[in-house]
Amino acid sequence: MDREPVPKKPRVGEEESNGLHSPVTLCHTAPSNELWYQESLKAPEAFWDQLAKERLEWIKPYDKVMDVDMNSGDIKWFINGVLNVTVNCLDRHARDNPDRVAVLWEKDEPKQHEPVTYKQLLDMTCQVANVLKSQGIRKGDRVVLYLPMIPLAIAIILACARIGAIHSIVFAGFSAEALSSRINDATAETVITADEGVRGGKTIPLKETVDTALKESPCVKRVLVATRTGAAVPMAAGRDHKLEELMKEESTECPPEPMDSEDPLFMLYTSGSTGKPKGILHTQAGYILYTGLTQQYVFDCRPGDVFACVADIGWITGHSYVIYGPLSNGVTTVLFESTPVYPDPGRYWEMTERLKVTQIYTSPTALRMLLKSTNEYVTKYDRSSLRILGCVGEPLNDKAWQWYYTVVGEGRCTVVDTWWQTETGGIMITPRPSANDSTPKPGYPMNPFFGIEPVLVDDKGEVITGNDVTGNLCIRKPWPSMARTIYGNHEKFLETYYRPYPGYYFTGDGAYRDKDGHYKITGRVDDVINVKGHRLGTAELESAMNRDGRVAETAVIGCPHDVYGQAILAFVILKDGVTDDEDSIITGLKAMVKTGVGSFAVPHKFLIVPGLPKTRSGKIMRRILRKIANNLYEELGDVSTLANPPVVNDIMQKWLKEA
Ligand code: WTA
Repeated sequence: MDREPVPKKPRVGEEESNGLHSPVTLCHTAPSNELWYQESLKAPEAFWDQLAKERLEWIKPYDKVMDVDMNSGDIKWFINGVLNVTVNCLDRHARDNPDRVAVLWEKDEPKQHEPVTYKQLLDMTCQVANVLKSQGIRKGDRVVLYLPMIPLAIAIILACARIGAIHSIVFAGFSAEALSSRINDATAETVITADEGVRGGKTIPLKETVDTALKESPCVKRVLVATRTGAAVPMAAGRDHKLEELMKEESTECPPEPMDSEDPLFMLYTSGSTGKPKGILHTQAGYILYTGLTQQYVFDCRPGDVFACVADIGWITGHSYVIYGPLSNGVTTVLFESTPVYPDPGRYWEMTERLKVTQIYTSPTALRMLLKSTNEYVTKYDRSSLRILGCVGEPLNDKAWQWYYTVVGEGRCTVVDTWWQTETGGIMITPRPSANDSTPKPGYPMNPFFGIEPVLVDDKGEVITGNDVTGNLCIRKPWPSMARTIYGNHEKFLETYYRPYPGYYFTGDGAYRDKDGHYKITGRVDDVINVKGHRLGTAELESAMNRDGRVAETAVIGCPHDVYGQAILAFVILKDGVTDDEDSIITGLKAMVKTGVGSFAVPHKFLIVPGLPKTRSGKIMRRILRKIANNLYEELGDVSTLANPPVVNDIMQKWLKEA
């Protein structure tokens, strides 16, 4: 086979007229991808060194590429380097192409969008940064953001990065209680919110929720309130300030704070299998390098593209692929405020036609929801601008993959089912750029990205070699955007990710490697539930419900759901003597979850049962509950060793009656 001469180093960093590093040399059919992948594993320091030098603007160069110990979880990248991520996301693009559109704000109101140029976004960011400084906020301070999807939200996020404050975005669907616990865990003195949010034609009372949260968060000294709807909201004297009013007083110039590569950039709370949500901490240089690199190569992003990652900025996908990745590459990023079905299921495709979207990045749940409507909602719009169809958060089942590929993409776009996590910072396993020239396979994220070495490990910690095998998914080599710690709890960080399989980062997912060496994710091997692509811990839901005085104990599991991926099923044991009818109990429990976590986490089904299967040491056997909920009665295994064997049959009877 004729192969073009393979360059020694990845040919990245060729500046195009609009400043985006040209990705054309790395498409999934390029014969050199395989070589680059091999090189990234063989000589990772050289590989990452070149990319960091070519792609990032440094205030002071680093002395050493990496110092990472996968046994002890001590992680440092680009040691002693100094930079500011906002210079990389804004200044350098505003300098070269001030009028290029940075953000295309797709408003909730149908058919309305507003462009924000790189120069405008830089000015706005600097003004907010000056407000933060005037308010006494300094480098290292934690700032909690509870925001709608508006351009000012991006400026606020980047303003934190400009001055070195650590942002902690809380998804605006979380309840006051969940917000308050995140504020308290970070001991944040500042909260930034908006009067109201707007989504799917409905308003969301953001400021009101913040006010409720702050009753339990005495650490907060100031609240800055941005305007989305202009609704009159109560303002506490001395504590609350209208952000736009303060911005008017400030200059549009703010020197970037020089940040060490390893200074924290942000924290983002995510659910684990035990305990309360953990503040995953990401740092500066490695994160911005890796998100930019993956945004460019996974999505084949080229100068002039309009990149639409429709995730909320409250989740990691929004952080990495609405904001940091695309802006660091100087492309146009779409900020999507609405829902896939508002005003109708044609929303994404009407937007695609109007904005000439080149890549769309969404969730399997959204696709499964959309494919239930007639294809006309898709086909009546011109989708010829689309090249890459991306997806993340949960397995993309065959039916949804086929619909995405054939109906949306007319068989001419590449579907990229990407696997990654809050902790990994950026995309880890993806069909492209492909190391082995393979065409995408439905249901498979397939191949590791450059520098990523996935391994499957058995329960004893032995690496499983060969193909056609299943195991616990771990990562062997370090990569720049790996999480550095859990805020305030490094011990928990080590225990969760580095101690289960010494020498490897443990993902919490299981995976299958097929005969061709391609990866398919089989799901969480812990008690994390993934509903509509939102990650929820069983412990947070259970502790919310256990506060109902009528309840003795609860256990939550995920069970298959044809649209949501997983539905939440709650098993509930009542206290002795409680005689309330089931409906009133269920209503009460739903309200508990709504207040404790948020409406999006309310279980879909409740089963009031006399007991739960437990080991003799008192641990709930969720495995048994999962088998029952999946109607896999013959796979229950030996239940005679349980503390209470007959309860299994009781639960089964109840399930058969009600399911
Ligand atoms: C799951 C989202 C199957 C997985 C970026 C992971 C996936 C968790 C996929 C992380 C995929 C993500 N196929 N499962 N393509 N992508 N997941 O932290 O269980 O919100 O561990 O990050 O989502 O969720 P998180």
